Amino acid sequence: MHYFRYVGNRLCCEGVSVESLAKRYGTPLYVYSQRTLTEHFQKLDRAMAQVDHLICFAVKSNSNQAVLRTLADLGGGFDIVSEGELRRVMAAGGDPAKCAFAGVGKTEGEIEFALKQGVYSFNVESEPELERINRIAARLKKKAPVAVRVNPNVDAHTHAKISTGTYQHKFGIAYEQVEGVYARAARLKNLSLRGFQMHIGSQLTSVQPFEQAVQKVLPLVKRLKAAYGLEFVSIGGGLGIVYNPALESGLPRWWESRQAKTILTPTLYAARLVPLLKPLGLRVVMEPGRFISGNAGILVTRIEYVKRTGKKNFLIVDAAMNDLIRPAFYDAYHEIVPLRRKNGALVNSDVVGPICESGDFFAKDRPLPRSGEGDYLALLSAGAYGFVMASNYNTRSQAAEVLVNGKLSALVRERQPVAEIWAGENPAPWQV
Ligand code: LLP
Repeated sequence: MHYFRYVGNRLCCEGVSVESLAKRYGTPLYVYSQRTLTEHFQKLDRAMAQVDHLICFAVKSNSNQAVLRTLADLGGGFDIVSEGELRRVMAAGGDPAKCAFAGVGKTEGEIEFALKQGVYSFNVESEPELERINRIAARLKKKAPVAVRVNPNVDAHTHAKISTGTYQHKFGIAYEQVEGVYARAARLKNLSLRGFQMHIGSQLTSVQPFEQAVQKVLPLVKRLKAAYGLEFVSIGGGLGIVYNPALESGLPRWWESRQAKTILTPTLYAARLVPLLKPLGLRVVMEPGRFISGNAGILVTRIEYVKRTGKKNFLIVDAAMNDLIRPAFYDAYHEIVPLRRKNGALVNSDVVGPICESGDFFAKDRPLPRSGEGDYLALLSAGAYGFVMASNYNTRSQAAEVLVNGKLSALVRERQPVAEIWAGENPAPWQV
């Protein structure tokens, strides 16, 4: 579900022509739909209405201030993984008391900062981390709210690089060890055992692994609640989205074959999980990232050159793997559409960026309308893990970002000035 639609032959984001934005702000350009963000949040919120719950948006999926503000205004909480993310949330008007701090490598400085801000919970991933949090809390004369992240050893059936819930992974504490860890944590005086956490992976397109994981941990959570008076259970994020609505390319690529042809809807998710979770009598915390932001954003790019070689038609665009790394990194599929819809024959094309790497591609042998220099293309479903994973590789500045709300649009991140990229660099003293 999203609000990127053709009106006539022009692609629009809500009530705004995307080409007008591309011309005004230049490309590569990320464009986000506030209505899409809002409706995704509200759909999940409504679906979970039968239980006390808190939706903590995964900031790592899209941390633009305007996106965070949209979710803060809806009353959402945030799943954060660094001091930087917590600072961003606060700058956007988010409430630290609704922030769950995750991650396997929290530093002392980060723990101290988060404790002082009064975060909702530290989602703890190891025993040394529990001890570290306890020590810092004692020094600050505070009690740190903690939840232990369990690794339930359930296969999420998703891409290897975004699967997290088996013993192959660095995340959480093994299911069999968790009870012992809670017992030891209960003896640490400056910790308050508040919850239980798990997250089995990202881009899950079936409810079954979620169900399997919840079923597996239920008896354990019941025992922990009875022993330590927990307040919440967090079932993490991971709700998958549809990346290839039309399945146009027909290529047997890994990512496509795993794509849902039907969406894992919040209604289905809730219908299967709420009956399991409700009897626990705990608040249910969720940490969706991609489900909220994924289809709410696109990356707009301009074709610089069309190059035909013996066998291939290359569309060389001005966006690159530094702007959107998902195809290069995960072989991820992103639907590509022209900003001006065209009739006529489709040409199998490779859409590639200007970076000096063969991995710098967005699509291979994709049937696309015949296009020429100066035409614009949109890469869909780029709102999650898009801009946030951008780099300055090849000394390319980071793209600009725009938020649309109905007929309104605003530049919510300026294009990075190129000299800023090396602003903190200097020759060594002996070189001057
Ligand atoms: N909670 C925890 C503890 C997580 O590690 C993650 C994502 C989430 C929640 C949010 O997951 P989501 O609802 O967005 O699936 N860069 C990859 C995805 C990495 C996900 C990392 N953790 C990609 O582009 O597909």
